[in-house]
Order: sequence, then C-alpha cells, then structure tokens
Amino acid sequence: MRTDTFKGRDLLTLLDWSKEEVAQILNLALDFKRDRAIGRLHDDILRAKTLFMLFYNQSLRTRNSFEAGMTQLGGHAHFLDPDKIYTPALEGKEVAYSTERVSDVARVLSRMGEALAIRCYGDPVEWEYGAANALLHEFARWSDVPILNMEDDKYHPFQALADVLTVKEKFGTFKGIKFVMSWAYSPSAHKPRAVPQSAVIAATLMGCDTVLAHPPEMALDPEVIAACEANAAMNGSGFEISHDFMSAAQGAHVLYPKAWAATPIFKPPVGEDSIEQAQKAFDSYKEWKATAEYMELGDRNAIYMHCLPADRAWEVSNQVIDNTDPQSGWRSVVYDEAENRLHVQKAVMALTM
Ligand code: CP
Repeated sequence: MRTDTFKGRDLLTLLDWSKEEVAQILNLALDFKRDRAIGRLHDDILRAKTLFMLFYNQSLRTRNSFEAGMTQLGGHAHFLDPDKIYTPALEGKEVAYSTERVSDVARVLSRMGEALAIRCYGDPVEWEYGAANALLHEFARWSDVPILNMEDDKYHPFQALADVLTVKEKFGTFKGIKFVMSWAYSPSAHKPRAVPQSAVIAATLMGCDTVLAHPPEMALDPEVIAACEANAAMNGSGFEISHDFMSAAQGAHVLYPKAWAATPIFKPPVGEDSIEQAQKAFDSYKEWKATAEYMELGDRNAIYMHCLPADRAWEVSNQVIDNTDPQSGWRSVVYDEAENRLHVQKAVMALTM
C-alpha cells in the first residue's frame, strides 16, 4: 500500500482512518518496539523537529509517551500549559489579553514546529459535550502542520491504537476475538467518554466481535454506535450493546471495564448539566467492578485491559489489575498497554510529521 498518504495528516479520530492505515500503523509500532528492545535507534527520523503539546488537563502516560517518543525519534516535544500562554480560545469566548484566538495560535505554532498535539475535555469546556472536539477541529482548520488528538471529549485515538496493538500482540489476530468494553464503577463521575468511544471504534474497525456493556444512563454517542455498526457490517463481525455487566463478560478474550460519564453531567441538549444526577446514576451501579469472579467468566486466556489511571478498589480489585503473570490464564496487561502508547505514537509521528 502507499505510505505517502500519511504525511501531513491530522489524527483527531480513527473514524478518519481506514482499517488498512491502522494496520500499517500497528505494524510500524511493532517494528519500533522490537528495535528499541534490541537497541536499534531511530533518532534520525524526526531530527530537529518539534512537537508542541498543549495540555488543558493532567496526564501521566500521554505526556511522557509523546515526550519519550519524540526523544527516541531525534526530535523535541515542547510542553505548553494553556494558563501560561495566552489561553487559546474560540471566537466569542475571548478575554482581552488573557486569551488568544485559536486561529492565531495555530498559525504561529505552525511556523515553528512540525506538529501540534492537544488534550482538552471536561472542566476546561464546562462539560459541554463536543466543545473540546470543536476546539481541536478549529486548530486543524488553521494549522499547516498535523494536529494530534491527545484526548478530547469524544475521542482518544492514540489510546485506542495502543489498545488494539495490545490485542494484536496477545492474540495474533482480531478475527474471532470477543472484545468487551464495559462501564465500571468509580466514585468520581467526572470521566470523559473518549476512551470507550475510541476503543469500540478501533475494535470494530479491526474486526473484533465487540460488546459494549453499560448501565442505561451511560449510553455513548449515537454517532459512535452507528460507526461501530458500520464497521462490524464491513468486517462481518459482531457488535452488541448489553446492560448486564456479568453476562457481557461470558467467553470474552478482552475485558476492558472502566468508568465513563453518565449522560446527565453534560450540558443540554445532550444532558441536564446535573452532577447530582450523574453521581446518583454512578452510585446505583457499585457492583460493576472487575473482580476475579468477573475475570473467570471470560475465556481461559482472557486479558484485563484499562487505559489507566485505574480507580483501584472501585473499578478493579488489586487481585485483578496486579495479576500480570502470563502463565496464570486470565491476566492483566495494563502495563503492556501503557507501554504501547509509546510505540503507536512514534509510528504515527514518524508517518505524519
Ligand atoms: N491513558 C491516558 O491517557 O493516561 P493519561 O491521562 O495519564 O495521559
């Protein structure tokens, strides 16, 4: 296949990328992973290039995997705190000498670096669902260099690439793999939908038999569901929605239980702008927790996945998340999954920048 189709591309959502392109990213990521293990360097690929990273939210994995990845490819990742520059803002949301219009920020940074990566969801956009995604699209409209989505309020494409890379590594195939993306309980209702939405898009795109399990109050974006149905039809694979935590896990190869927002937390028209209602919905499902009993329902070689950070003792027991022994039947692969962020991001940066 052609590889020059990647150069200069934004990665805002995997909905814009084909199955063949994702497969190529995963293959390159595995090459980079193998080469790093044997000490083969690739520090000429992005030499003297700069990735600007604009973080409206906190991060451990995303920031450090992009920074380490740029170092390993010979370039530099530059951290930007929106409160320490003139906060990039859309027209109509500007404050004099405190914000700077996105169209100006994007064009200035495009003159200085080779890509701009952005994380924005939740509080910075006051839980107005889609507002952060719109911000990233505005950056993409004005930027001359690739815009990379480090998680917005709809999508977390690099997490999803790491997720499917982990499935590929563990099972060697996507065909016939039952991938269960499930809601799980957390005391914090402030959780974006980006991870589950991107995970089900990626799993269905690659051909997994995908099950989305959640209480009725935690439904995902109808556009995402429609895309998953289309992906499953394209691949001749399955896509189902379940409201039963335990029965959804039956026979699963991949169990990925994590909390995400209940619909009431979002501003109208999507939700009711009510943290009280969102919290009440969360607290109704405390039994949605990854325990050994839950893992036993899956395939004998089932893997437990989580994007991290996990809310231990609520979303998952220590027994499950810490059982990383590959000889033990079902097991946790969360640290492999976290490491794979590095490899997929290097692949995308090498191809797009
Ligand atoms: N999974 C993930 O994106 O982690 P961080 O929030 O630490 O970046």
